[in-house]
Amino acid sequence: MSKISAAITAVGGYVPDYVLTNKMLEDMVDTNDEWITTRTGIKERRILKEEGQGTSYLAIKAAQNLIDKSGINPKDIELVIVATATPDMKAASTSAYTATKIGATNAFSFDLEAACSSFLYGMSVAARYIESGKYKKVLLIGADKNSSMINYEDRATCIIFGDGGGAVLFEPNEEDLGLQDEFLRSDGSGREFLQATYGGSSYPSTPEAIKDHKHQVFQDGKTVFKNAVFNMADVAVKILDRNNLTTKDVSWLVAHQANKRIIDATANRIELEEEKVMMNIEKYGNTTSATLPLLLNDYESQLKKGDNLIFAAFGGGFTWGSIYLKWAYNS
Ligand code: UT7
Repeated sequence: MSKISAAITAVGGYVPDYVLTNKMLEDMVDTNDEWITTRTGIKERRILKEEGQGTSYLAIKAAQNLIDKSGINPKDIELVIVATATPDMKAASTSAYTATKIGATNAFSFDLEAACSSFLYGMSVAARYIESGKYKKVLLIGADKNSSMINYEDRATCIIFGDGGGAVLFEPNEEDLGLQDEFLRSDGSGREFLQATYGGSSYPSTPEAIKDHKHQVFQDGKTVFKNAVFNMADVAVKILDRNNLTTKDVSWLVAHQANKRIIDATANRIELEEEKVMMNIEKYGNTTSATLPLLLNDYESQLKKGDNLIFAAFGGGFTWGSIYLKWAYNS
């Protein structure tokens, strides 16, 4: 019997209708369109405004889009993983609610949290279930309602983040397409540079903390930036070397969309031309767990069976890594 690999066989995506432009941010904090565009590459981001709707709303919409496009029966899905840094609620799994709402009634489900690397790590986890031979349909969703933890008076964070969701289906493949290799890392000494300090188990929220915005995201942008540039480029090089790939073999770089300058630096380090770098940061900003599947969704029509995709991400924790995947279908 040939080896089973884990291939992506369908994608879907969703972003909310509400558009928060750089111009609108000019009225909210001391910033301007030119600064945001040149320093980050972002022009606008989407915000989920509906009262009482959390990350599951984005996850459900993205999954439904995948189901509609691919025509799969949700009852055939065996596992639903929701990669997210902004679960709906504490103590109740966002994935369980999502799975039930999309009709995946025969599935088990769990959330996976690794900040901006959640989806990348999720790809690794989803692939292991498929490669084991025990599971045939694993739905991996990356979704984040970042606006729920952003202080819209803090120009260091509010200009970057947006809300969105994306989904991919993993299925077994016997043509050696799908996930080929991965290089994943973490370093907990980085957590002081990017965190929402209050509201977790270390420091439960207090009225005082909320008044001081300490339940919302703080970041030392410069330090995060430097670490992201170094580590994303480093792992991308490692994954190429380890698989004897040269730049010519790479069809696409699928990099976490946190800052265009970080993505450009990673592409430059592996000497990849601009046309092979997936980019949609200008439309959505940093949607945390949703950036990678939203890229796949936006670029799906350009992807060809056998294309070599190099994924790379970096996020809070710190967490980071790179994955090499062979695309499995023509759309
Ligand atoms: O997904 C993983 C998590 N996040 C990231 O990967 C984000 C990583 N960091 C970044 O993307 C960048 O560090 C930022 C976009 C957050 C900031 O860009 P920067 O080029 O590192 O700016 P900076 O913090 O070094 O600030 C440069 C200048 C400063 O002014 P002075 O001291 O030179 O006069 C800031 O006060 O820009 C000023 N500044 C702003 N000006 C207008 C900082 N933020 C803004 C702003 N609008 N929003």
